[in-house]
Formats: sequence, C-alpha cells, structure tokens
Amino acid sequence: MTKAISEHPIDLCDIRFTAGISIIIPTYQEAANIPYILKRIDTLRQARDLTLEVLFMDDDSRDGSVEAVAAAGFDWARIIVRKADRGLSPAVIEGFEAARYPVLICMDCDLSHPPEAIPNLVLGLHSSQQFVIGSRYVPGGSTDDDWGFFRWFNSFVATVLARPLTAVRDPMSGFFAMRKSDFDAARDLNPVGYKVALELIVKCSFENVGEVPIHFTDRQHGESKLTLIEQLKYIQHLRRLYMHKFSGMMYLLQFLFVGASGVVVNLAVLSLLVLVGLPEWFCLAAGIGVSLCTNFLLNRRFTFSYARREPVLRQFLGFVSASLLGLVVNYAVALSLRMNVLEDGPFALQLAALAGIAAGMGFNFLGARYLVFRKRFVRR
Ligand code: GDD
Ligand code: MN
Repeated sequence: MTKAISEHPIDLCDIRFTAGISIIIPTYQEAANIPYILKRIDTLRQARDLTLEVLFMDDDSRDGSVEAVAAAGFDWARIIVRKADRGLSPAVIEGFEAARYPVLICMDCDLSHPPEAIPNLVLGLHSSQQFVIGSRYVPGGSTDDDWGFFRWFNSFVATVLARPLTAVRDPMSGFFAMRKSDFDAARDLNPVGYKVALELIVKCSFENVGEVPIHFTDRQHGESKLTLIEQLKYIQHLRRLYMHKFSGMMYLLQFLFVGASGVVVNLAVLSLLVLVGLPEWFCLAAGIGVSLCTNFLLNRRFTFSYARREPVLRQFLGFVSASLLGLVVNYAVALSLRMNVLEDGPFALQLAALAGIAAGMGFNFLGARYLVFRKRFVRR
C-alpha cells in the first residue's frame, strides 16, 4: 500500500487571501500529541502568514490536555471540554458550529494527518470544489509501511461498502476541508460513529469533491480509539445513509419484495385449503384475501414503517381500495393494448397482460406510497 512520493509536491500560490481557517481537532486523551501538532501548525502559520484558529474538541480527557494547550501559549488555539454527547462525530460537528472562520478543516490530533497539506485542501475549495479530502488512495497518497493486512483489509471493505454513496477514493478519511457556509446550511446531520466526512458528503449532496494526496503516518503517542463497537456502528450508519440517498428506490424495492412474498403466501394458503378438501372457488378467494392481509401488514411494518402508528383500519381500507383499483388499471391497460397496439404477433396477448400487470403494480405502489401510507404528520 505504500508509495514513495507523498510530501505535498505541488507548491501553491499564496493562500493568504483566505479570510481565515478554523482547524477543528477532536481529541480524547491526546495530551502527549498536543504540543507537537501545535508546533507544526505554528510553523505552517508563520511560513504562509495564515489567519487561523485551532479548536481542540476534547471529551473531558483529564489527562493534561487543557494544561498542554495553555502551556503552548498560542492565542489562536483553545480547547473546549465537552461533558455531554461524547463521541468523535458529535465533537467535530460541535467544533464546526463553534468555528469563527469561513473555511473549516477537520483533522486528527495524533499527527497521522500532515498539517502541511492544509494549504492544498484550502486551494481545492478556492478552485470551486465543495469538499476536499486529504486522501491516502489517490496517486501520490500513501500509508506507513506497517499497515498489516487486517487493517488494510478492514479499510478496504469499509470503503467498498460506501462506493454507492460516493465515488470518492478515501471517504473514510478524517482529514478534510469544507466551507462554513455549506456546513451551516446542512440539515439532518446524524453524528454516528467515525465517518464524519461520509456523512457530510452524502447529507450535503456534494458533487464536486476533491482529493489531495497525503502520507498517512502511524501515531507515535497514545492509542487509537477505533474500537469494534465503532466499526459495528458503521453498518448502522451506512444503512441510514443508503436510506437517505436512495429512499425512493428503497421504498419500491421493499414493496416489490413484499409483493413477491404475497405470491408465496397466496399459493401456500390455496394449496393447504385444497388439501383440507374445501371447494376451489373458496380456496382461490382465501389465497387472495390472506396474501392481501400479509402484504398490508408487511408494508405497514417495513416498507412504509414511518406510518406504522397511524390508524390501522383506515389504512387497511385504503390499501384494499388501491389494490382493487390496481386490478382495474391492470385489466384496462392490458385490454386497450391488445385492441390498439398488440393486435397480433407471437405472444401479443401475454405481452399485453404483462404490461397490464406492470401498470397495475405501479398504480398500487403509488397509491400505497402517496395515499395510504403518506407522510401526513410532522415529526417534532
Ligand atoms: N472528542 C473525541 N471523542 N475525540 C475522539 C473520540 C471521541 O470519542 N474518539 C477519537 N477521537 C479523536 C482522537 O483523539 C484523534 O484525534 C481522532 O479522533 C482520531 O482517532 P484515532 O483513535 O486516532 O482514530 P484512528 O487513527 O483509528 O482513525 C483515523 O483514521 C481513520 C481511517 O483509517 C481517523 O482519522 C478516522 O476518522 C479515519 O476514518
Ligand atoms: Mn489515529
């Protein structure tokens, strides 16, 4: 995974025109690293004549972090000690809220992320990118040699699972830049787990995301806080992001799954009743009736779960009406296609019937989604 080139080769034009940069650093027990990262940021600040602030967002570490920031003696660095709502994502989000400059940077405290790359990230924002990532996986990016197979594989799987959400190479990175104005406009941010960048890219619908190569250095002091629990939270986080991005598709997909389960239920009930010796007209009707009920219940519980606290009887009658109307649509479409378009040719009747089924199902879905299980309540 390691490539030789890495250190910020593109020397940039002056970025002093930036009105100011807020660097947000989430910390938990990073007292040993604080003096080093401040030193490196200070060197950069002087070399580039930057206006900046550093905000350590600390989850009440009590390990001398507060003293370390004070001892460094920089008036542009402060530490906010958080006592509620612990966690990396909430810490970053709270830091972004508290930031006072128009450009936001998020980075780790353990010197894995080189502060020297900050000008490149900011330059990306100036060249109209909305979000810029310090990336290990673009040409020129690299990681330290001792990334064992497990760590690499872990990172690889996490990245692949996020692929449908964004084409970015390194969406797991904790090193990125964005505009404060975009952050302030973001809605429904859900600070779960470690993947703040992924959350922001998806929820802000950023299209123009840039990646700047960095060399990711292993931490020298202290320990990683990325636990197994955090990794499990990532799965939950992914599900929410998928729902957010593909909600329309997800409704349709689940509706179709439920429909398929209805076919199975219908046939099972019918066969069972025939076995018992009941008349066929009754078995057919019972199959339809029972599958209609299971379809209704499954859609209410899963597909349109947001509406599962609404009055059930009204929903059920609506669902049955939509299904009956769907049958009418099915029949009308099939018949009119047969008479006007698919008049002859092989399987013309079957094709017309298929088109009727598709139209009927589409009608059912729209009726269920927008009438029967519509979102009529405002969540407070
Ligand atoms: N406030 C706060 N609260 N900060 C935290 C917490 C928390 O619960 N957990 C971790 N941090 C801080 C750490 O102190 C550190 O500055 C930074 O967040 C990253 O934590 P690490 O423990 O160093 O994480 P990592 O090195 O395993 O993960 C890094 O690389 C991943 C990609 O490989 C992070 O940058 C991740 O965001 C990134 O996904
Ligand atoms: Mn780290």
